[in-house]
Amino acid sequence: MISVAIMGHGTVGSGVAEILLTHKHKLFTALGEELYIKYILDLREFPESPVADRFTKNFNDIINDLDVSIVVEVMGGTNPAYDYVKRSLQAGKSVVTSNKELVAKHGAELLAIAKETNANFLYEASVGGGIPILRPLSQCLVANEVDEIAGILNGTTNFIFGKMINDNMNFDDALKLAQDLGYAERNPEADIEGHDACRKICILASLAFGKHVYPDSVYTEGITKITLDDVKHANNLGYVIKLIGDVKKTENGKLDICVCPMLISKDCILSDINDVFNGIMVKGDCTGDVVFYGKGAGKLPTASAVVADIVDCGKHLKTRKRMFWTDGDGSNIVSYKDSITSVYLRVEGNGDKAVEAFKDSQVVDANGETIILTKEYHFGEIEEKLAALKADGVNVLSAIRVGNI
Ligand code: HSE
Repeated sequence: MISVAIMGHGTVGSGVAEILLTHKHKLFTALGEELYIKYILDLREFPESPVADRFTKNFNDIINDLDVSIVVEVMGGTNPAYDYVKRSLQAGKSVVTSNKELVAKHGAELLAIAKETNANFLYEASVGGGIPILRPLSQCLVANEVDEIAGILNGTTNFIFGKMINDNMNFDDALKLAQDLGYAERNPEADIEGHDACRKICILASLAFGKHVYPDSVYTEGITKITLDDVKHANNLGYVIKLIGDVKKTENGKLDICVCPMLISKDCILSDINDVFNGIMVKGDCTGDVVFYGKGAGKLPTASAVVADIVDCGKHLKTRKRMFWTDGDGSNIVSYKDSITSVYLRVEGNGDKAVEAFKDSQVVDANGETIILTKEYHFGEIEEKLAALKADGVNVLSAIRVGNI
């Protein structure tokens, strides 16, 4: 029997307990041993839980119990999750987490501690919810040099876009519905401002390219400035707008990485990812494009990935899984100003000055406004041109990257 402690009994944590109880026999067959929930750490009371007698409010119960070999962190946030995870690994316990903020901020350090103490630190659920992506990336695609990873990594924002476009729902109501369904982060700003997607592309980039990419080195833009007008114009031009996390290896080996709303061609498979679903495209030099698709948020999909990691830890209590990267100092990241992209611009009036500034672009007249699809520029140059236009009194209503995926 392997004793497990679950830290956190919120949306994901309660899902993990539920699966461990309801799928007990299936998991026993997979592992060859019983997984026993010895503790659930939460400050709240859950008298109705079938394992109500195992709840504790004291982390010391877990860390001091030599019988607990796997600690599951599904609390979210970094305080106290970081401290508890670090101490668990230092004590030689394996840790499974769904916490992308923790992995994106402290992954390199926690992986190094796990290495030292010969424990495992697994984090499949931190990206893509129920979609297997990290293990396939590090194992099944290991023969490839990864050229690019691009994905719809946040279910909440994708859900909001869908509700706005298809059901004419306003932004706030769509967000509220996503929260009620358990998709959104504790602080939904992390979803709509792109921070959640940023953490996920950081984890993907760190794992794929071997050096920790920290969130503050990634250009990140949320979806709050996207209007229904932009969505409609994009549609007429053959695009959809999606919040995309993208990392690509440039010719000099550096990583061009960003999170922002992008116009995606309807020919691109990511344009068809709707509702709370996530889609992640990995471009390998041997495989070409491989796409991972599934529910990127929600109680049981995310808990499914956590439980798979628990089983994997149980199978490898004495050996280490290699889901590893080392620390990074940001020197392998391209400055966002040097990133090359074209943009969609929506300009008030006939847009003469903007058309002149962005020569050789595609221009569309749209009922008193002008839509410009520019050719490719360095992003810094686009910013300079937009600043000059603003100073010249030109009202640029929207500027959205056009994805080249
Ligand atoms: N808030 C996240 C999302 C949850 O909407 O995708 C899963 O990471």
